[in-house]
Amino acid sequence: MVRETRLSREDLVLPLFVVPGTGVEKEIGSMPGVFQQSVDKATDTAIRARDLGIPAVLLFGIPEKKDAVGSDSARADGPVQTLVRSIGQAVPDLLVITDVCLCEYTDHGHCGLLDGQDVANDPTLEVLAQEALSHARAGADIVAPSDMMDGRVGRIRSVLDEEGFDHVAILSYAAKYCSGFYGPFREAAESAPQFGDRRAYQMDPGNAAEAMREIAMDLDEGADMVMVKPALPYLDIVRRAKDTFDCPVAAYQVSGEYSMIKAAARAGWLDEQRIVDETLLSIRRAGADFIITYFALSVAGRL
Ligand code: PBG
Repeated sequence: MVRETRLSREDLVLPLFVVPGTGVEKEIGSMPGVFQQSVDKATDTAIRARDLGIPAVLLFGIPEKKDAVGSDSARADGPVQTLVRSIGQAVPDLLVITDVCLCEYTDHGHCGLLDGQDVANDPTLEVLAQEALSHARAGADIVAPSDMMDGRVGRIRSVLDEEGFDHVAILSYAAKYCSGFYGPFREAAESAPQFGDRRAYQMDPGNAAEAMREIAMDLDEGADMVMVKPALPYLDIVRRAKDTFDCPVAAYQVSGEYSMIKAAARAGWLDEQRIVDETLLSIRRAGADFIITYFALSVAGRL
């Protein structure tokens, strides 16, 4: 009766990884229980999510081919765009959020276009905006840029507005740290950088005030909601964001957070359900309005 924070199914967002083909369902080695799926299988998972009371899914795509400039990122017939349309038909009441980034589409695995060994911020913006537009055209409700280029929220907002998609919202990965916890995701999205790292565009784990500046900039450029990522090692940032800004704050319990719990549970060292509930509750207590988590299906099934 006096409990201050509760976890409910409505707080959860389920990530999906979509690959070309049909009938494909391939488990990710470092993320037991998480799969790369073709559009047909991913649509079935989306229907399951909706039936369990989960309000939204977040889509990541792996293209047929990758190149230096991520040419396939804005194809109308790409796996993400096709899945957006398929979910729109099969489960129209499920919110569809799409991840907007180039690292899944570039052969070098970086989140933007390259100039020599460096990521070129400004030339990347137009490519991201076209990717976001292709998602909007397919019927995405919310686009979520995760690349961390400066100025991308503003560019995406103006392209969406010009093309008549002013109703499509932007969830910006505003405070995204350069984290070792993304390791398993890079297997899932086949997006590991082929050289160097992401320190030039993702945030230094030592910085908190900078996260507030990043969030302020993204809101200023038109973001409707902001995200802190990863979640558990950055609960202070979630709280500070919630106290500082009057907007919805999301937290992403990332792949490494998932794998860590799964591995310990498999070894019999931790009780998976207890730990999952405790971590998700702590993320909510820190101030997150909703949580992106690979545990969404299993937790919603229990709640
Ligand atoms: C793409 C992106 C990443 C994640 C979400 N979008 C990985 C990265 O920056 O390398 C990580 C999600 C996870 O670890 O679960 N830029």
